[in-house]
This record gives sequence, structure tokens and C-alpha cells, in this order.
Amino acid sequence: MPAASTKKSRILTGIQPSGDMQLGNYLGAVKRWVTNQDIQTNFIPVVDLHSITVKQDPEELRRQTVSLVAMLIACGVDPEKSTLFIQSHVSAHAVLSWVLNCTTPVGWLERMIQYKEKSHNQERVSTGLLTYPVLMAADILIYDADEVPVGEDQKQHVELTRDIAERFNNIYGQTFVLPEAVVPQVGARVMGLDNPLIKMSKSHAHIRGHAISMLDDPKEIERSIKRSVTDSFNEICFSNEKERAGVNNLLGIYQVITQKTEQEVESDFKDARGYGDLKSRVSDTVISEIEPVTKRYHELINDPAELGRLIQKGDDSARQYADPKLDIVLDKVGLHRNDGAGR
Ligand code: TYM
Repeated sequence: MPAASTKKSRILTGIQPSGDMQLGNYLGAVKRWVTNQDIQTNFIPVVDLHSITVKQDPEELRRQTVSLVAMLIACGVDPEKSTLFIQSHVSAHAVLSWVLNCTTPVGWLERMIQYKEKSHNQERVSTGLLTYPVLMAADILIYDADEVPVGEDQKQHVELTRDIAERFNNIYGQTFVLPEAVVPQVGARVMGLDNPLIKMSKSHAHIRGHAISMLDDPKEIERSIKRSVTDSFNEICFSNEKERAGVNNLLGIYQVITQKTEQEVESDFKDARGYGDLKSRVSDTVISEIEPVTKRYHELINDPAELGRLIQKGDDSARQYADPKLDIVLDKVGLHRNDGAGR
């Protein structure tokens, strides 16, 4: 019998530094990156170039970028095991993005759901918002990533990345690995607490009671969950019905944290006295998950020198993979290399 393959899958996945990380990011994405970092090679950029596709306050963006690095480490991303870095510090991403822009049809980008949502009713839409998925493709393809663990909302962008890679390979010869989106069965779409029909999102975080920030204190978490929208069925069970989306969302949150099956979760709530009880147990579960993360975050953020060191280490390690790959691409496209060895 042939020996089982020991090749680690290589994953790349990113997160934007605009706004504090919210529970949806954590449960839908970050928690899994942490679980799998021993068995996979992880590349995790904080994608600040993506954030500037919509207007940002420069000082605030700088602060949020470092804050997100601290938060990711607090969530368990281990910089000794995962390559955690800042996207704009590795210039190969932006260069590859330009090259891929030149082989990607505009029509492919105009069809993206997120582009349609974000550009809807906007008087002026930046070109960056349209070409955003090409930069995302560059992030993924430059590391030859075979898996991209994301929440449901990013699946279409990863599928587009495959198309972009395939088109490039067809034109210039085999260059890029075709990556797969890995979307979790549970937690792929954590919904807004104020409106369980839309996904929980940083961009709605200013709406009271919409999201739980990873920096919320226990009282705020309790208040948000207590106020969350439910229904009048008074029945605690999973359901795909639109009317029951609120309870379904609370059970889903509980399920991702406790890692139980749907049956086990429903049985945990068999003795619950109505939705009040459901909310208070879910909020206790969320608080016990988030509280240690918040504590660790505050320790880290008060040590900027150590954070700076870790960022530099991650940037250097990312460049070691990204720069040689970019050289291969530039060579294929015919861009003149003056020194014979690359940059
Ligand atoms: P971003 O910053 O919006 O979100 C980071 C990750 O969190 C997931 N997520 C959710 N999952 C479940 N429920 C939710 N309510 C929820 N909200 C967010 C997202 O799916 C994502 O996995 N374009 C990406 C960042 C990016 C990227 C990449 C991702 C840039 N380059 C390359 C993967 C690979 C984004 O804006 O994610």
C-alpha cells in the first residue's frame, strides 16, 4: 500500500483592517485558521490595500492594521507557525495584481456580487473597488495556495481567482495552482443580531446591536444578544425558514463555539425556559470564548516593539515566497529584468 502523502496543504487567507474584528470574522474564518495551523502551511496577510478601496482615515487605518495583527495573535494565530504579515509590505502582491488586471476581462469583475452591493447607490465608485478581486487573486496565487478558508461571502471571489489563474496559465503556460475555497459547514454566515437576514459585517458595526466586536466587554455582549431579533414561535430548534433566522443564528453561534452537532445543541436547550434563557446561555458561551482573547489582545497591544518585531518577521518570511514567484511571472510576461536575477 502506498504511504499516505505527508504534503501539507498550503493555505492563504486574508482579513481587512477596516474596523474592529467582529464575531462573524472570528467564527466564520479566524477560529479555523488557528485550529489548522499545525497541519497546514498558513499565509495570513492583513489586507490593508483592500481596505483603501473605500475611503479610510490614514491614521485610523495605520492603528487598525497593527491592532488587527494583535487581535489575530490574541485569537491564537501563532507567528511561529503561521506567516502573519501586512499585505502592503510585500510589494509583489500589488505588482502581480497589475499583471493579472491585464489578463482579466472587466465583465468578470462587474458580475461580482460584492462589487454590485458595495457600488449600489454610490455616486463615485473607485476603480479599486472593481478590481478588488484581482488583488485578492494575486494574494492567493503568489503563494501557490491550494486552499483558501473563507466565509460564504468570499467564495465567489475565490472561484474567480481560479478563472483568473486558468486564463493566465492558458496564455503563458502553467504558472499558477488553481485554489479551492474552503467554506465551513457551520458558521460560514454569521448573521446580524439586529437583522438575521443580512450577514454580520464590520461595515454595519455602527448600527446599534448589529455586531459583536471582539473588543466588546461582557456587558455589551450580553446587551447585544439580549436585544437580538428572534420570532414568536418560541421553539428552540435549527430552521431554514426566513422567519426563524434569528434563533437559527443564535444556535449557529453556539454550535461553532461548542463544536457540537445540531442534535446535541438542540438537546442542550431542551430544558430552556423560552428565548430569554436561550439568549442568556448563548451570551455566556460567547463571553467565555471572547473574554480570554480580549485580555490577551490588551497585553499585546501594549507592547508595540514586540508587535513590530513580529510584523517584520512575517513580512520577511512572506517575501521569501512571493518575490521568486513574481520573478517567474514577470519573466513569462516578458518584462525586462535588468540584473538577470530579478529585482
Ligand atoms: P473580510 O475582512 O471581510 O473578512 C475576513 C474573513 O471573515 C469572513 N467573514 C464572515 N464569516 C462568517 N460570517 C460573517 N458574518 C462573516 N463576515 C466576514 C470572510 O468570509 C473572510 O473569510 N476580501 C476579503 C479579504 C481578502 C482575502 C484575500 C481572503 C483579501 N485577500 C485572499 C482570502 C484570500 C475580505 O474582505 O474579508
